[in-house]
Amino acid sequence: MTIISSAPSKIILLGEHSVVYGQPAIAVPISALKAFAEVSNGSAGTGLRIVTQAVDGFDVFVTSLDAHSDNPFVTASKLLLSQFSIPIPDAVITLRSDIPIASGLGSGAAITTALLRALAMVVDCQLSSDLLNDLVYETEKLFHGTPSGIDNTVIVYERPVYFVRNQPIEKLAISNAFTLLIGYTGISASTKVAVSDVRKLYDTDQDHFGTIFADIGKLVNDGRRSISNGDVHELGLIMNENHSYLQELTVSSPQLDKLVAAARGAGALGAKLSGGGRGGNMIALVNQETMDVVTAALLAAGAVHVYQTTVTGD
Ligand code: PMV
Repeated sequence: MTIISSAPSKIILLGEHSVVYGQPAIAVPISALKAFAEVSNGSAGTGLRIVTQAVDGFDVFVTSLDAHSDNPFVTASKLLLSQFSIPIPDAVITLRSDIPIASGLGSGAAITTALLRALAMVVDCQLSSDLLNDLVYETEKLFHGTPSGIDNTVIVYERPVYFVRNQPIEKLAISNAFTLLIGYTGISASTKVAVSDVRKLYDTDQDHFGTIFADIGKLVNDGRRSISNGDVHELGLIMNENHSYLQELTVSSPQLDKLVAAARGAGALGAKLSGGGRGGNMIALVNQETMDVVTAALLAAGAVHVYQTTVTGD
């Protein structure tokens, strides 16, 4: 038996952090950077073995549906099997991922999604995208504090989304494809810590920070309109403004600011950090003429990797 499943990574284009407080955000999948799960037969009676080089190089067995686990992949598997009241199968699932960890690209949600897709095929159950989305979200909640749900949503449905917490997903209308460079600082940073620091900040002055969140929400709605009108120049300006607000929320870092400045200086239409911040990735909006020079500028400013992705409509 060889079953291979996959799930994409993602970036947040606009609206990270404020999305936790009920404001909208826009995120897009990156289908070129993926997580994979591969299944092979297990020995009879050994249970489900999950092997991964993707996180800590661990190798674990799922032998009981009742015992608590500190491992998100074990927990996710148990959630799925319990949901369908299916006994633990004898199988080996090997996880691998091209997605940098703790960098704002949703690697955890992507690996969990690929794993659950593979496990659903092993046990032959009908796993709808809606249920998969719920199970990945449950796992994210158990291990990552108070996630808004944007990561699992864009990764499971693998399409650009306009997302508002606890609301039905809205499609993002894209009239003209646009290209983003993703500059990786090489610094892994905990989204959980950044989200909790923003919460502490918010608690110091709810009026002020609530207004910032609402202002970012307006930018997201403006950005949505620019994307549907194909106005990349306006989108770039909106990204820049969003970055300034994120600086005010203390989630940027010297390295992120340096990459953002380098991208703008080399002609990007806009640039901002993306995701939890403090490290991880920034994104730059480019066109055909500026793509190469902005890539070179990002590398010269210390980006350890520059990925490129083109965002298209359906
Ligand atoms: O660091 P990432 O890409 O997983 O993004 C987190 C996005 C936040 O808005 C900061 C948190 C959330 O749960 O939405």
